[in-house]
Amino acid sequence: MLTYDFSNKVVLITGGTSGIGLATARAFARAGASVVIGSRGEVAGDHAEATLAATSQALFVPTDVRDEGAVAALVARTVERFGRLDIAFNAAGIGGDMAPVATASQDAWDDVMAVNARGVWLAMRHEIAAMLATGGGAIVNMSSIYGAAGKAAHHAYVASKHAVIGMTRSVGLEVAQRGIRVNALCAGVTATRAMRQAAEVVPQIVGDFVAQHPIGRMASEDEIASAVLWLCSPGAGYVTGTALAVDGGFLAA
Ligand SMILES: NC(=O)c1ccc[n+]([C@@H]2O[C@H](COP(=O)([O-])OP(=O)(O)OC[C@H]3O[C@@H](n4cnc5c(N)ncnc54)[C@H](O)[C@@H]3O)[C@@H](O)[C@H]2O)c1
Repeated sequence: MLTYDFSNKVVLITGGTSGIGLATARAFARAGASVVIGSRGEVAGDHAEATLAATSQALFVPTDVRDEGAVAALVARTVERFGRLDIAFNAAGIGGDMAPVATASQDAWDDVMAVNARGVWLAMRHEIAAMLATGGGAIVNMSSIYGAAGKAAHHAYVASKHAVIGMTRSVGLEVAQRGIRVNALCAGVTATRAMRQAAEVVPQIVGDFVAQHPIGRMASEDEIASAVLWLCSPGAGYVTGTALAVDGGFLAA
């Protein structure tokens, strides 16, 4: 990974207690940032805070991103503790149930949309208000290759990740002249711990995923984190409203 300097920057990561969010939190902490994690899972959150605190200043705030009061409190706690908010990575997300559209439940649809789409919308509402108070910032919203392609039996997840890209473009335009850049990331299938555990149960999963990615393997968590750090760095100062694919060629095929 390239070396970045995010010292004196305050970074908020939703869904930072595991997987891609946690790997990105670690990368920002190594680069000197103060890192706030807003996520479900108190035990995992406390553990993440302790791990990050070894390298940088860290705070875990138990948060359900479906709940506007909780998201508002997360941003308020961030500003209270660190005085500002410079960078946000909205990574909280769920996969939801796999089901054909004719038999899928409305609850399953609502659940995925509430976390993956409304959660990003709520996060941006409050993050932007805080960033404007100190002159700007950068936001990365977690989409997916399925923000730009379909997948049978995953219509709710696919819809939610397309929504993330639509919101990113629209909000990016809204704040383009107010010092805030807003981008989305379309990650290919990533070898998180949850993915590795699933592969132990059904080894065929990995082969299927790998076959769909022209580069011939899954992404590492650090490769996704690396793209987030770049998007939030001064080097990406002219990049806004875009959806960056970090997908081993998936969307090119
Ligand atoms: N792993 C992949 O292959 C992959 C690929 C593309 C995109 N993504 C996206 O990346 C993001 C992270 O995925 P991951 O694979 O690291 O998964 P993960 O399950 O390890 O992490 C998801 C995180 O979101 C949090 N979360 C879930 N629901 C929440 C809620 N209601 N409120 C607050 N936090 C909540 C969890 O606690 C966890 O910290 C997700 O948005 C996912 O859709 C993952």
